[in-house]
Amino acid sequence: MQQLSYERIPTSVYGTADEASAAVANEIAALIRQKQQDGKPAVLGLATGSSPKKVYAELIRLHRKEGLSFQNVITFNLDEYYPMQPDALQSYVRFMKEFLFDHVDIPVQNYHIPDGTLSMEKIREYCLDYEKQMELHGGLDFQLLGIGRNGHIGFNEPGSHENSRTRLMTLDQTTRVDAAMDFGGLSKVPRRAITMGVLPILQAKRVVLIAWGEHKAGIIKQAVEGPVVESVPASYLQGHHNVSVVLDESAASELTSRKAPWLIDDVVWDRAMIKKAVANLALILGKPVLKLTNKDYNDYGLSDLLAQHGQAYDLNIDVFNWLQHTITGWPGGKPNADDTNRPERADPVKKRCLIFSPHPDDDIISMGGTFQRLVDQGHEVHVAYQTSGNIAVADDEALRFADFVVDFNDRFNITSPQADKIFRDAARFLRTKKDSEKDTDAVRYIKGLIRKGEAKNTCRFVGIPMENVHFLTMPFYETGLVQKKPLGEEDYQLVTDLIDKIKPHQVYAAGDLADPHGTHKVCLDAVMEALRRLKAKDFMKDCWVWLYKGAWAEWDIDQIEMAVPMSPDQVMKKRLGIFKHQSQKDGVVFQGTDEREFWQRAEDRNRKTAELYNKLGLAEYAAMEAFVRWKF
Ligand code: F6R
Repeated sequence: MQQLSYERIPTSVYGTADEASAAVANEIAALIRQKQQDGKPAVLGLATGSSPKKVYAELIRLHRKEGLSFQNVITFNLDEYYPMQPDALQSYVRFMKEFLFDHVDIPVQNYHIPDGTLSMEKIREYCLDYEKQMELHGGLDFQLLGIGRNGHIGFNEPGSHENSRTRLMTLDQTTRVDAAMDFGGLSKVPRRAITMGVLPILQAKRVVLIAWGEHKAGIIKQAVEGPVVESVPASYLQGHHNVSVVLDESAASELTSRKAPWLIDDVVWDRAMIKKAVANLALILGKPVLKLTNKDYNDYGLSDLLAQHGQAYDLNIDVFNWLQHTITGWPGGKPNADDTNRPERADPVKKRCLIFSPHPDDDIISMGGTFQRLVDQGHEVHVAYQTSGNIAVADDEALRFADFVVDFNDRFNITSPQADKIFRDAARFLRTKKDSEKDTDAVRYIKGLIRKGEAKNTCRFVGIPMENVHFLTMPFYETGLVQKKPLGEEDYQLVTDLIDKIKPHQVYAAGDLADPHGTHKVCLDAVMEALRRLKAKDFMKDCWVWLYKGAWAEWDIDQIEMAVPMSPDQVMKKRLGIFKHQSQKDGVVFQGTDEREFWQRAEDRNRKTAELYNKLGLAEYAAMEAFVRWKF
């Protein structure tokens, strides 16, 4: 087959962001050491944001454990919001100190971060000088970059010219929406930033762009495989002589090497690869699977598959049947039925099912239809809410509820000076609360209670008893800030104990790695670790784990192992279930990157999954929820 290179920038893909970050940190460390040997400074261009945090953590580790010194390191950061005080929570000065500079031996005078406190008149000159400083130090030896979902590098937003210089830039709407989480709401995100231009970035001797997570996969494909265009500033990197893109598997997932590897190289045609290729071919051609012909296979680079596996007719039927067998209205297994070709076992007829919901609404948003079916079909369904979700509640909601308690007490002659005091303290705190200031314990607790009440309301609506509703309030989440703690023993123990107590036949967990808050991934890690710890237990032999995706993305069609269809009525019922989460409606605190309401996103995705099945030639349903089985 013709060897095609779709990637226009050398790309390395690692299994995890941790491994990839370590590789990047090692490259930086090698450069610093080399320069030390040569008696020269190492001039680094540095980025902020979520992506480089693990690179910096590894550099700190190398400093502490392996004596990597930063004495000869000179750094220039890409950008800073404008206006911005250096000690503000969202300042990149603060970020760099917190995640790198305060933990290594870099001399204070060696790092440079654009100044967000300047007056407007001074910015132009300041920017010219910023670039001059870089030149005086011999230019950047290494530039680390992240990439925005809109393709920005630094804050060079779409439309930025290849020759653009360091300047004040108006932030794109996507950038502001993505930053809203850190600022506690879109309206609080600055409208401008000072950014290093595209030109000085491209003048660096070496450039490494890093990206992790599914939410970056689409833009990475455009930057790496698409044409060089102003609308995707990262695509300018295609013209650099020494650039690499370093990704984890999720961020690489849209690249041709992942989506259609047969177009690039020889592949092993196992069942999974066959499914992927046939479904892909059918979707490209807009034909149902059963109508694909030998010619279609040959014309679209699949002659190799055809040669090894016979006729289109056989391949089509095989893949069609496989798709058909993933569809079931019996997510807990169909009683007294032949289950050879069903996603779930028929026995035991009544199963214990444990749904893990990272935030208090993920169960209903992501698998509300399946949740309802499990209950209606008589299974013992438990839900474990992993985190309190308290940071996603608006301040005035917290006040409204505290006020309610006072009025309630008043009305029913309950004398409670404590409740009065909590309300008064909360009101005073919230009146003077600064942007993104950490809430008091009482306010956080009230916010958590609001979400708890909403989750309970959903469970009543779906029809499970309150003793089956478990609020884990995992401690890693309880920082009161967007930045969470790493998982600790107490977190693992909470999850492990619950699984051990319920001894479920089915565990459902959010495999939703595109969650921009990162909380879903952490919650999944906790469930995986708990299952690993319990592996030797007897009940675990009968425990199947199903991963759902949530509000942000969906499984690829070839990955889906169980698709649970929904009728129009079931779609409507699920919508009403999502409505129980009133604090998450009508412009939530952490909207994420999608401006639609959660119920709209969920319905849209569930409808699209059903449409996909239909396009491939299977029955037409109103909506479908999709699951992948995790075999551990
Ligand atoms: C940060 C910067 C931005 C980020 C980009 C990705 O200094 O210039 O270009 O690199 O927005 O941000 P994260 O890594 O948070 O996804």
